[in-house]
Amino acid sequence: CGIIGCVGRGDDTLDTLLDGLDTLEYRGYDSAGVALANGSVQTAKKAGELDALREHLADRSPSGTVGIGHTRWSTHGPPTDANAHPHCDCTGEVAVVHNGIIENYQTLRDELATDHEFVSDTDTEVIPHLIEDALADHSPEAAVRATLDRLEGSFAIAVVIAGTDAIFAARQDSPLVLGIDDDATYLASDVPAFRVHTDRVVYLDDGQFVRLDADGYTVTDFDGTPRSPSVETVDWDPEATGKAGYDHFMLKEIHEQPRALRQCLQGRVDELAGDVTLDIDPDIDRVQFVACGTSYHAALYGAALFRAAGVPAQAFLAHEYAIQTPPVEDDLVVAVSQSGETADTLAAIREADRRGADTLALTNVVGSTMARECTDALFIRSGPEIGVAASKTFSAQLTAVNLLALATVGAGDEDVRDLIGALRDLPADIQTILDASGAREVAREYVDSESFFFIGRGYHHPVALEGALKLKEISYTHAEGFAAGELKHGTLALVTPDTPVFAVVTGDGEAARKTIGNVKEVEARGAPVIAVTDGESDVERYADAVLEIPSTHARTAAVLANVQLQLVAYHVANELGRSIDKPRNLAKSVTVE
Ligand code: G6P
Repeated sequence: CGIIGCVGRGDDTLDTLLDGLDTLEYRGYDSAGVALANGSVQTAKKAGELDALREHLADRSPSGTVGIGHTRWSTHGPPTDANAHPHCDCTGEVAVVHNGIIENYQTLRDELATDHEFVSDTDTEVIPHLIEDALADHSPEAAVRATLDRLEGSFAIAVVIAGTDAIFAARQDSPLVLGIDDDATYLASDVPAFRVHTDRVVYLDDGQFVRLDADGYTVTDFDGTPRSPSVETVDWDPEATGKAGYDHFMLKEIHEQPRALRQCLQGRVDELAGDVTLDIDPDIDRVQFVACGTSYHAALYGAALFRAAGVPAQAFLAHEYAIQTPPVEDDLVVAVSQSGETADTLAAIREADRRGADTLALTNVVGSTMARECTDALFIRSGPEIGVAASKTFSAQLTAVNLLALATVGAGDEDVRDLIGALRDLPADIQTILDASGAREVAREYVDSESFFFIGRGYHHPVALEGALKLKEISYTHAEGFAAGELKHGTLALVTPDTPVFAVVTGDGEAARKTIGNVKEVEARGAPVIAVTDGESDVERYADAVLEIPSTHARTAAVLANVQLQLVAYHVANELGRSIDKPRNLAKSVTVE
């Protein structure tokens, strides 16, 4: 979900809020709303897409010079008008938008219920009611501060109060960033929401409170101690958040991969010298990776790279790691996260930090919480990714984790120069795939299938998992990915002529030979086989269709194979007419545990 706020836009306030919410759409949402303050507070909110809110606003057009807006991704209560933000107190004079979860909301609600009428199922609604009570003997700013003291859990909140031409906002475990312009100030959960207005930003830290008004902004701790966070400049253009003529952000982002990987490699590799230089130099005896979703697949791949170099390494789902933390001794704990904001992953690195580990954020977002909280950060440099389903950032994560392994522990038995050469060639190799992929034809042929399976061995196991996740996320079709050898240990029972199996097979070594054995097993059960291959083995003999990738190193082959599977997922979803950039129920960045 997303927050936007602005002060100083005059008559443009409502449009600025709605445009900001449009840009935040990619974070995933199921309802939206705004509140403007102009002496009184006027609120409008609607379940559904932003267009529903725009329609609702058409005959009301609230005005004001101070405003807040929100897109909600349901946690407490279904997506209804009443559950949409902003939430108000009984008088309608306090309006609040909130990301995160108020963990003690039930206690607070029970306490407030005698004097306050609640109209939603949300945890958020306790906040305006607490502020309403506090206003009885506090100034507006003090009332908001007093309310913060009562809240447990995670929150980024923004508040407007009638009669006060200011926004009060606070951050605790949920991102909030300010945009600074000469005559206006913005507030958002993510920079794209106001990037078209300014490139100067202030990333708020946990425990910080901000007041935005006509004079600018003031940052303090919750208790009022002044803070002077630095103003930073973002290095990407507002156009980076447009579709550039593509039908979907995801398709654009798939096509941006050559550039994204060039940026990721830039200045970091020297093929002649066989050197990789990163501006970090962690000590590495053992590595634990923590991540969720697509990033977890990059973590699995990364752990395999370190193990190949003789370093004990394991990948953990961050939410499991946070509650069953393995022993941490001289481990480097690497958080892989596109956004750098995923609450589950943050909880894992905080636990690792408590146990004395060094932490490294491998992320795309420079000002993100993970980048700032970890001991070190390695940026994947993909530029903003808007499609909810990760594409270019996964390829860049795989590339960056190769760089990390090469720079810190080497490549085991592999020739470092070969590997650097293969990484260097990735942008051109991906372009070759994008120019001539047969993924669309494959998608059309199999779109009506009941289920899809993906298999791969070694470095291709995470690719199989990611291929299946991508297809599930955007096409809503059942799909599962397996280590190739595992399919026969149970799931083979589901394999029929109506379950296409995508097999990633590259090279002609033992892994390829064994995976071809698994291909024969599914072929014998009548399943259509689609081979994703560099043509070096004879897997094509057993395949109904082939998606080719250029020959490359065994490690970089995983990156290329994944590009073909991204395209398959995209085209299947497109054939089915799905909401590709904003799949149902999903959010780009999940800031609740
Ligand atoms: C959400 C997104 C996934 C993403 C995961 C981890 O669930 O829908 O696409 O892979 O979060 O996000 P992160 O920003 O930590 O990589």
